[in-house]
Amino acid sequence: MKIYTKVKDLQKDLMAYSKFGKSIGFVPTMGYLHEGHQKLLNEARKENDIVVLSIFVNPLQFGPNEDLDTYPRDFARDEQVAKVSGVDYIFYPSVEEMYPKTPCVKVFVTGKSDVLCGSKRPGHFDGVVTVVTKLFHIVQPTRAYFGLKDAQQAAIIDSLVADFNFPIEIVKVDIVRESDGLAKSSRNVYLTEEERQEAPLIYKGLKQLKESVAKGQMNPFDLKQALCTFYETNLHGQIDYVEILSYPDLKPISTLIGQTALVAVAYKYSKARLIDNVLIQGGKETK
Ligand code: PAJ
Repeated sequence: MKIYTKVKDLQKDLMAYSKFGKSIGFVPTMGYLHEGHQKLLNEARKENDIVVLSIFVNPLQFGPNEDLDTYPRDFARDEQVAKVSGVDYIFYPSVEEMYPKTPCVKVFVTGKSDVLCGSKRPGHFDGVVTVVTKLFHIVQPTRAYFGLKDAQQAAIIDSLVADFNFPIEIVKVDIVRESDGLAKSSRNVYLTEEERQEAPLIYKGLKQLKESVAKGQMNPFDLKQALCTFYETNLHGQIDYVEILSYPDLKPISTLIGQTALVAVAYKYSKARLIDNVLIQGGKETK
């Protein structure tokens, strides 16, 4: 496994592989790797000759009052996780390497970003598509892997690739959870002991919603109300949003019948903002 901090060095070595027709699987991350990231790496390992992992906490996608400075980082540990996951190359650039001067051109999201995290974190997805565009140009992967934990991000990356004609296959990977149901996240370390104990209820609420759908409840308004009531009754943080939208278009819907629907939650604790979701297909869960 080789570690690169310079764009030019990585590009030089990767180009040699592309010339020989080898496939490149790419997993972009912000590090502090957990089993969710590892699942992406495992999928990339299965489907490609070369696996490239990027670790870069991208300042552009953090708002002024967000956790850029405190975002958990542990490169030594990440290196070990990457090694056991069969990564060939780690790209670990500095902020100066990625953004050497004030950019003259940026990428802006014009759709799918006025809902969910996009509406709560202004500019966040502009920062995501800008860095992902740069990373795609640097790595030029055959396939890139994104988790459905960030379902809105995955939907926006689909549009980025389609709108800008990137010759890259986007592979979406299911959410990896702790044994008690809490979605794995680098930010779970921010939870207090009490918050960590009750946080699995976020997914429990989503599962109950799925059960209601299985019993025939197809009205998104009623389902959302019931889920909000469950959270308000059982949790001690604050709902940031609960939304039911079509997927991947992220439009409002009046029924779940015949739709792929995303039920997405953002929930705020004292120091952590957690997100989770389920996808429901035509009134049935997709997985
Ligand atoms: P990060 O939060 O580190 O996540 C990297 C990738 O891992 C994303 O595609 C995310 O959806 C996936 N992931 C995180 N937790 C997961 C889980 N529990 N199960 C499955 N997949 C999971 O997302 C980002 O970084 C950044 O926005 C990035 C795309 C790297 C751009 O800066």
